[in-house]
Amino acid sequence: MELVYTIYLFLNLAPWLVLGLPPIWTQPEQVHLSYPGVPGSMEVTWTTFNKTDSTVEYGLLGGRLFDLSTQGNSTLFVDSGDEKRAMYIHRVILIGLKPTATYVYHCGSDEGWSDVFYFTALNDSVHFSPKFALYGDLGNENPQSLARLQKETQMEMYDVILHIGDFAYDMHEDNARIGDEFMRQIQSIAAYVPYMTCPGNHESTYNFSNYRNRFSMPGQTEGLWYSWNLGSAHIISISTEVYFYLDFGQELIFRQLEWLEKDLQEANHPENRAVRPWIITMGHRPMYCSDDDQDDCTKFDSYVRLGRNDTKPPAPGLEDLFYRYGVDLELWAHEHTYERLWPVYGDKVYNGSMEQPYVNPKAPVHIVTGSAGCRERTDKFNPNPKDWSAFRSTDYGYTRMHVVNASHLYLEEVSDDQNGKVIDSIWLVKEKHGPSAWL
Ligand SMILES: [Fe+2]
Repeated sequence: MELVYTIYLFLNLAPWLVLGLPPIWTQPEQVHLSYPGVPGSMEVTWTTFNKTDSTVEYGLLGGRLFDLSTQGNSTLFVDSGDEKRAMYIHRVILIGLKPTATYVYHCGSDEGWSDVFYFTALNDSVHFSPKFALYGDLGNENPQSLARLQKETQMEMYDVILHIGDFAYDMHEDNARIGDEFMRQIQSIAAYVPYMTCPGNHESTYNFSNYRNRFSMPGQTEGLWYSWNLGSAHIISISTEVYFYLDFGQELIFRQLEWLEKDLQEANHPENRAVRPWIITMGHRPMYCSDDDQDDCTKFDSYVRLGRNDTKPPAPGLEDLFYRYGVDLELWAHEHTYERLWPVYGDKVYNGSMEQPYVNPKAPVHIVTGSAGCRERTDKFNPNPKDWSAFRSTDYGYTRMHVVNASHLYLEEVSDDQNGKVIDSIWLVKEKHGPSAWL
């Protein structure tokens, strides 16, 4: 019996005798922030490969370091690749932060602490003028805009980053090691300012599990759709992917639509729209684009725009809904280009006037910004764009957005190919918001 047991033990240990024992990995990594949507809060998310406690120690900049401490918890995420790699995703929500105050923090446990980072608690005033960087389609390989974004974030040029889908290319690859490396790459942005996301097609493998597990967005949908407020803006993040991956559940289209309509109704209550007049949406696949790649947005009957007739029941698209509730600005990515559209609805241009198209426009404004940089390189344009195409560029780059006040919003496009040159800009000016602004 003893011999049998010895043989059994040897066989069980054999892989470790050959390969060595795996390292103990309690050191925090992939630190990133997100805004839970409640004034005075911030969420810190990070990864370890062995189980540890989840603690953030923090304090006001210039005060006593790590004066304050908050505990959270971790969830075990097992990637669905062959190796079934396991990691612990730690989440801690800090509350009671003083708006506009800068905090110094580290995260981890008594088994290992991260580097020291800092963030500024978001200003909770409706008169705050937040500055954003916006982009989609940023990968682990060829992330051309990354260094410029890292530096500009550290120079405190942005209050928030919006990553409009498609991460890492792809997070699940190499048994999710590409996801790990991508999250390490963006730490020098995302550990300093909230990094707000929506899912793209490159997250779809294993039912978006890497996306759903690695990020921490407001709401209870694992980051698929949610909304939040900042300054005079109500920002809605959606999954356009529900229209394309029906195997993961057609009902997701309808659940999102139901939530969207409720959220838009709420945002349009007169007392809400009066203080947060801007409604801005972000979703990965655009309704319109003039690329030459046969993507959904190149088609008149785009699923995202007009819905699908091959579901039961037929699934409405998003253009009518957004128009009916007076969405001001729609941010998209997926096309590896930058394209600014004239105000558009139903494939027709509705400029404010000939001279000032973006002053009191009569339809939502769309921006497509998916050229941050990835292994698939940039896309090409159709040589004959439709009337709604106002400006387009195939340079690598990203977009800056400044929500200045209730009536003025500024957008500009940065070309990384041209060393950070601003190649396009507009002021979107609205004296009136909501569906009545279209009349
Ligand atoms: Fe995409």
